[in-house]
Amino acid sequence: MKGTIFVELISMAEDAFGEDVVDQVLDQTDLENDGAFTAVGNYPCSELVKIVMAFSDHSGISPTDLQRKFGHWMMSHFVDNYAEFFAKKTDSFSLLEAVDGEIHVEVKKLYPEAELPVFSTHRISDQHLEMTYSSPRPLVEFCHGMIEACLDRYDQVAKIGRSAVEGNSNAVTFDIQLT
Ligand code: HEM
Repeated sequence: MKGTIFVELISMAEDAFGEDVVDQVLDQTDLENDGAFTAVGNYPCSELVKIVMAFSDHSGISPTDLQRKFGHWMMSHFVDNYAEFFAKKTDSFSLLEAVDGEIHVEVKKLYPEAELPVFSTHRISDQHLEMTYSSPRPLVEFCHGMIEACLDRYDQVAKIGRSAVEGNSNAVTFDIQLT
């Protein structure tokens, strides 16, 4: 998993808990590289999960909520750093439909070592999109946060339902209905 993701998770934690607390929590967590992550490095996703658990233990915020919040944080990082992807789309459904076949394809060209999930989408109506996420990594909640943040980015409000995908606990179908 790309170092940028770790760097952003640590910045979110610094923003929420302060630098000293973050240093202390990372010191107490058994991490490879002693918790020194650079944006250009690549690290196992299991390290990300350990960091989320450590901040959850520290703060009492559930790992689920932390991953969701991190999805929002990461989305605003992408909006700032990859503005062209968003400028080309006028609504959240068009952006979400473009993640698998356009956006992540470009990401893979830029960073061949990126580990990306797979999405499929089904537009049921102008107001209703089904999006199935699947990954070998346990990041469903992070993905949920990214979808919420994408709706926010386009000032759209939706009810987001979820149903399990048989045989993969890291996969889910999001049922997104604009309200
Ligand atoms: C401009 C928009 C976007 C950019 C530049 C982008 C880029 C990236 C990058 C660089 C990674 C990390 C890959 C790695 O760690 O090796 C990633 C992962 C991921 N992206 Fe995107 N992404 C964008 C939009 C989205 C959107 C809208 C969604 C959600 C619907 C999404 C869902 C995910 C998820 C869930 C992962 C984590 C990897 C996994 O689940 O297996 N991305 N993306």
